[in-house]
Amino acid sequence: METFVRTAIVTGANRGVGRGIAKQLVLLGYRTILTSRDELKGKLTVNELKEEIGTKLASNLVYHQLDVTDTESVKRLYDFVMDGYEAADILVNNAAVLLDQFGRIIQTPLETYQITMATNVYGPLLMCQTFLPMMMKRNYGRVVNVSSGAGQVENMVNDMTAYRLSKLALNGLTLMLADSVKGTNVLINAGCPGWVRTEMGSPDAPRSIEEGAKGIVWLATLPDDGPHGGFFRDGQLILVNIPPNNRVNDFKVSTNVPDRYSKIANPQVYARRY
Ligand SMILES: NC(=O)c1ccc[n+]([C@@H]2O[C@H](COP(=O)([O-])OP(=O)(O)OC[C@H]3O[C@@H](n4cnc5c(N)ncnc54)[C@H](OP(=O)(O)O)[C@@H]3O)[C@@H](O)[C@H]2O)c1
Repeated sequence: METFVRTAIVTGANRGVGRGIAKQLVLLGYRTILTSRDELKGKLTVNELKEEIGTKLASNLVYHQLDVTDTESVKRLYDFVMDGYEAADILVNNAAVLLDQFGRIIQTPLETYQITMATNVYGPLLMCQTFLPMMMKRNYGRVVNVSSGAGQVENMVNDMTAYRLSKLALNGLTLMLADSVKGTNVLINAGCPGWVRTEMGSPDAPRSIEEGAKGIVWLATLPDDGPHGGFFRDGQLILVNIPPNNRVNDFKVSTNVPDRYSKIANPQVYARRY
């Protein structure tokens, strides 16, 4: 008897948190389509991961090219998924750029804002415009927009301004998307992986990729009565503007920095950085 396997898509998964999310989803038994904008890099990562996973589950790891800023590339992925697997059940919008680590609101060139928004906001929007109608029709879907504490309203300070603005917009986008699928079994949330040791996060970050990916995978694999329209880190709701009639209100809002960050001298620095 064939067992039913759900299909997940992870964007920007050739390295960093996306790679970690893809690995955990495969280990949980999901058919996982690891995507990357650079085909060579993505295929190398798939080969590495198959070695790491090293069991029958490795056959559930599939590769496809995807540049989230390229409409044709998104369409090719959609056709590949629909032809091969009939549907996608999970979409993790992980791909992002941080181009202005030391950027200031006035000095950062407009082009930096435009490229950042194109990748970090319009990329997830285009992916949702492409895949959500199918999920709604099937009445099943889990969408996670990988966001950042840097995008919380209370963290709007004068550095990484293009990145912050993009994650603020992504959090707003998440709420609008959540509203658009209300009443269906499609659950859409934003998740922050915390400050993670990746190319974006730097080797100074306190968290491993595995730790960062865990909370995102939780959101990607929620049960039917899971939260919807929230912004989470490690399964805890982060303070954000939440529309009143949202199911997410059932979840506990965390106002504390989790214990594991207490070794950082000033937790506010952590909260404001990412
Ligand atoms: N690391 C942290 O501390 C931290 C904290 C909070 C939130 N986050 C969020 O977590 C997510 C993953 O971050 P990370 O640290 O793993 O970043 P990363 O190491 O810089 O990896 C980013 C990934 O996105 C891909 N990407 C960039 N532009 C793309 C495009 N147009 N189309 C498709 N893929 C594209 C990159 O591909 P290439 O290899 O081709 O560049 C790479 O695979 C991001 O959304 C980030 O904002 C990270």
